[in-house]
Amino acid sequence: MTGPFTAGPMTEAELPAVVALWQAAGLTRPWNDPAEDIAFCRASGHGDVLVRRAADGAIVAACMVGHDGHRGVVYYVAVDPAARGAGHGRAIMAAAEAWLRARGVWKLNLLVRAGNEAVQHFYERLGFEAQPRIYMEKWLDPARKPPPR
Ligand SMILES: CC(C)(COP(=O)(O)OP(=O)(O)OC[C@H]1O[C@@H](n2cnc3c(N)ncnc32)[C@H](O)[C@@H]1OP(=O)(O)O)[C@@H](O)C(=O)NCCC(=O)NCCS
Repeated sequence: MTGPFTAGPMTEAELPAVVALWQAAGLTRPWNDPAEDIAFCRASGHGDVLVRRAADGAIVAACMVGHDGHRGVVYYVAVDPAARGAGHGRAIMAAAEAWLRARGVWKLNLLVRAGNEAVQHFYERLGFEAQPRIYMEKWLDPARKPPPR
């Protein structure tokens, strides 16, 4: 994995590599099909999956970015475990922020799962601040709700 590194929207051919990266980063869950999530996001017209590529095309980082007409959001922020600590996380987040700024979005929100609190320090280095909020959710298709965990 050598540079120069470049960031841009994922191509369809890169789908398996992106899903493998998210799995290696521990971000996938049984109730979220990442390929379905990607297809749904990209069909929306207000979201995309961005990748950061090495000179040989290997994907070192990826994230999903989008906005809901109010705020920007990122999901699935991941760096190849073999390439961490080299600034690729900061770079893929910079690409996501640029994607949002280009669309006039002025605020970016994100969620950190319980059990992954250590990543809060990564986001703080990038200028994020934790805020006291209560996160709530409702499955609009109850058939897709996972069993209690
Ligand atoms: C979190 C993650 C994306 C960071 O990627 P990375 O490429 O290692 O991060 P970078 O090298 O760009 O680091 C950027 C800054 O954050 C800091 N940082 C990164 N991970 C950190 C951690 N776990 N704790 C404290 N600081 C951290 C770095 O020291 C660096 O600081 P600096 O640039 O001010 O010196 C990567 O560890 C990862 O993929 N984790 C697993 C998936 C995950 O948890 N994603 C987030 C879901 S909410």
